[in-house]
Amino acid sequence: MIGCLKNTNWAGKERYHFQTIDSTNIKAKELAEKGCVHGTLVTADFQDAGRGRRGRTWSSEKGTGIYMSLVLRPDLEPGNASMVTLVAAVAVAKAIGNVLEEDETVIPFIKWPNDIVLNKKKVCGILTELTLQKTKIDHMIVGIGINVSTKEFPIEIQQTASSLLLETGKDVEKEELIEAVWQQFEKYYTQFMETYDLGLIQKEYEALLINKDEKVKVLDPAGEYEGIARGITNTGELIVETGEGIKQVSSGEVSVRGLYGYV
Ligand code: BTN
Repeated sequence: MIGCLKNTNWAGKERYHFQTIDSTNIKAKELAEKGCVHGTLVTADFQDAGRGRRGRTWSSEKGTGIYMSLVLRPDLEPGNASMVTLVAAVAVAKAIGNVLEEDETVIPFIKWPNDIVLNKKKVCGILTELTLQKTKIDHMIVGIGINVSTKEFPIEIQQTASSLLLETGKDVEKEELIEAVWQQFEKYYTQFMETYDLGLIQKEYEALLINKDEKVKVLDPAGEYEGIARGITNTGELIVETGEGIKQVSSGEVSVRGLYGYV
């Protein structure tokens, strides 16, 4: 029997665990619509319809990953909600770093806006979904998938995806990492909610940004361009220095790549 989280103040104090589920984000949304409390956590051993960003699926092999979603009921303008994804990215990167005990050879980085990478391979994805009531946020779901001990990935993502086990040789205890993620999340989320922007965590985010001060390709539907990633604004846009000046890239439809591949 899996119980509520022990090392947090509010995240995961109500927890629902499933062996099999379609998607923890879908279940969390259902619970939110029934009125569950802020901080309710849904976890699963397996998802048969795990969801990724931009309508993609999230490969969720049984027992080898962490699949979890947290319900938030923030007093926040809807326009500020996308920043919570970056807050979660810092929390996961720090948590993985702590659980791996800062092994110098494998440092978790963030690929803007919210993929966590180890050795330039994606080990975690974050999908934040928002539900409005008129013009206010009713609830947000922060869904996090971490590849913990996955050894094989579907052919389409074999070049870019990996797991903590494959990259470090360490078989991390899933419950320990879940606790660590939400403990870190509480800390950074509290800082975010003090200012309603990323001002207080911007430097920590930038220190984890994998492409910082390196050349990137911005895949903007209006036209691709290259530049040097310099950091983020206090509202989470990527700052890219180009031949035509500084551009601020919003996540929406735009992806950023390294010049020679995913990172
Ligand atoms: C991405 O595309 O990078 C985001 C992936 C998010 C996956 C997680 S797994 C737990 C939660 N439930 C889902 O269906 N998706 C998120």
